Amino acid sequence: MIEYRNLKIALLGAGSVGSRVAQLLLEHGDELASRVGAGLELVGIAVRDVDAERHVSLPRELFTTDAESLILSADIVIELMGGIEPARSYILEALNSGADVVTGNKALLALHGTELFAAAEQVGAQLYYEAAAGGAIPIIRPLRDSLAGDRVKRILGIVNGTTNFILDRMDVDGDTLEGALATATALGYAEADPTADIEGFDAAQKAAILARLAFHSAVPVEAVHREGITSITADQVERARRAGYVVKLLAICERVVDPVTGEEGISARVHPALVSRLHPLAAVHGAKNAVFVEAEAAGDLMFYGAGAGGLETASAVLGDLVSAARRHVAGGPGVGESFTAYLPVVDIGKVQTRYQITLEVVDATGVLATIAGIFSDHDVSVETLEQSSAAAAGPAASPATVAETATLVIVTHRASEQALAATVASLAGNTAVARVTSVMRVEGA
Ligand code: HSE
Repeated sequence: MIEYRNLKIALLGAGSVGSRVAQLLLEHGDELASRVGAGLELVGIAVRDVDAERHVSLPRELFTTDAESLILSADIVIELMGGIEPARSYILEALNSGADVVTGNKALLALHGTELFAAAEQVGAQLYYEAAAGGAIPIIRPLRDSLAGDRVKRILGIVNGTTNFILDRMDVDGDTLEGALATATALGYAEADPTADIEGFDAAQKAAILARLAFHSAVPVEAVHREGITSITADQVERARRAGYVVKLLAICERVVDPVTGEEGISARVHPALVSRLHPLAAVHGAKNAVFVEAEAAGDLMFYGAGAGGLETASAVLGDLVSAARRHVAGGPGVGESFTAYLPVVDIGKVQTRYQITLEVVDATGVLATIAGIFSDHDVSVETLEQSSAAAAGPAASPATVAETATLVIVTHRASEQALAATVASLAGNTAVARVTSVMRVEGA
């Protein structure tokens, strides 16, 4: 039996992911040691309350409330406590003491990533974070390493399992948003306060992390345009289904070119969108996540799997731990990240995509020409238009004598958000339009 030297591992946090990491580390320590060429000794687990109930049974003597002493004793610190403070300070302390750090803390990286990466670089330490976006799905390393020689054009990510579960229930079962959310809560996907998921905050943090890696540029989370799923109706989902689309909450990170100046920038945004049922992302059901990457040379790639879950996410953390430990054994500076492209994040108004607009219009002579004129006035080109007669849906503004309305479903060619918003405002203000029922972006084509 080979005698390895031991690397000291400190774990901060013993929640659903932390406790699984400790369990797997204790159970598979010998196997991991042979992969690394050094033993991985879990020297302690820092928690707020050593007597709290855990997801798995772990040796009591490992627990401590003294995180600072534990950090100073470790070669590698795994931060899985979540939140901003004291996680940020502990990571800085660990890096400054010469330890490498593994974290799954997306909120912290999205907010303080620049500071933490700079701190790591300054002391020649490494900060690993595969678990911070997409749970078990390997996506950080592919973007950082495998695609480092390529140019990423666009990422379309389903990176929030709770909202994907809700939208999938609405699509497959015809459920309402409220009904699907209640099921998500009952099954433990949604938190008691689901705001972070359904308002898109969680996905926006992941978008900031992915955009930063994909485009080698700083992407502050505040620069990510964010819309949640709370305004999505069962009717919109049903109409989408009939038109060959599925509604998904997408995190979109895109290389964009200003049509006037030719300058490159980044669009990072989270919003619900129509995705063709033929697109691979349409097959991502339930609470699963997937990240679809379009790269110039590699073409289209899709990374799929569990985006959350204690055991699943622990897999990503342990992968990082093995990488960090191998670096300790082999020496050297470890893998770097480059943030030297300095691409600006462009305002959402300048972003171009396709749109589906559903209108209830007065069913009278000349209305179609009026509607077409409004699109053309704003330089928005119509790709398809479908009309069906509809029962009068609410009172038409004018003329008062017209009782019948028709439903128009218009899909545009690519247009800027700015132009589309102006078009919708004009449509809403026109007497021929009884109601703008729905405006959805169409992505993935
Ligand atoms: N709440 C997230 C989700 C998991 O529903 O996917 C953690 O990022």
